[in-house]
Amino acid sequence: MFRILFITLLLGTNFINAEEVKMLELDIVSYEKLIQGDCDTLQLLDKALHEKGVVGVRGVPGYREKYEQFIKTAREFSSLSEEVKESYKPNRALGETFLGYEVGKEKFRLPSGEWIVDDLKTSYYALIPDNIRNKWPLEINLKEPFESLGELMADMGELIMHKIGLLGSTTGFELEEDSRIGRLLYYRKSDSNDNPYWCGAHFDHGLFTVILPAVYFIDGEQISEPSEAGLFVRTSKDEPFKKVPSVDLDVMVFQVGEFGQLATNDSIRATEHRVHKARGAVERYTLAVFYSAPMDIPIYSNSLLTNDTRYGAQSGEPCTFRNWHEASFQRYLVKED
Ligand SMILES: [Fe+2]
Repeated sequence: MFRILFITLLLGTNFINAEEVKMLELDIVSYEKLIQGDCDTLQLLDKALHEKGVVGVRGVPGYREKYEQFIKTAREFSSLSEEVKESYKPNRALGETFLGYEVGKEKFRLPSGEWIVDDLKTSYYALIPDNIRNKWPLEINLKEPFESLGELMADMGELIMHKIGLLGSTTGFELEEDSRIGRLLYYRKSDSNDNPYWCGAHFDHGLFTVILPAVYFIDGEQISEPSEAGLFVRTSKDEPFKKVPSVDLDVMVFQVGEFGQLATNDSIRATEHRVHKARGAVERYTLAVFYSAPMDIPIYSNSLLTNDTRYGAQSGEPCTFRNWHEASFQRYLVKED
């Protein structure tokens, strides 16, 4: 009887999970109207980022072509042997910190309090625009499609940060060299669904993030996004995570980072998000662009986030992005043995 009850509970849980995916209504603005400075468009952009923490922009010229070329090349890179890929890992003994290839280096805390490592997630980091510090594979030309798409995304992100006051007169910030970081994300397939997340719930610690709608493959064939999988966000601890559907590949997606919240004293909130894994042997690709704030300009924040020990000071006292950035790495990065 216990066995039957157990099976019933299991089936029941799966059924409820499948039914429980809540969808977020993603606000999408037109690129044309955005650059024309159309008032309604700017209002919607601002409202979406303040209330939902996420917004889309459709129709950026050249985006679709660069996107397709990038995914093709990202797949070629993923198909290289692990030995070759690992040769592009940062050489930490030489002081290289993060640029290049990375596997499962981040850990996340589950609601139970347990820390887990995202071991199905692999990344390739590079500065945008290209920089002498970047590491590029010799086997294939990853640099060109990565940088070409990355620059387009980085430019759009900067435009939006100016529009919502994360750059310019409100915060006094302008971007420094080396402040735009591109991250190719490849989520590996696994038949095991023990960990339902490809990436656990977190906030990006920088100013702002631009994301490519993810693409999915099964046995080398591109498929549409599985209903249970993808990017999920929530607007507060009391709200459920809602799925940001990746259905229109002509849309670029934007979300807010923690230092953006700190620098604006909570007038805009960082976006909590996680990536739900697809059931079965499905692979996922995307590209994210992150922005660092000026490294050594102190902020005197009154944000709730000053209660986080990474702030390293009391509310109203100074903290630099360098402090925040290094404390974030200390907390979330898996230490090498
Ligand atoms: Fe993230």
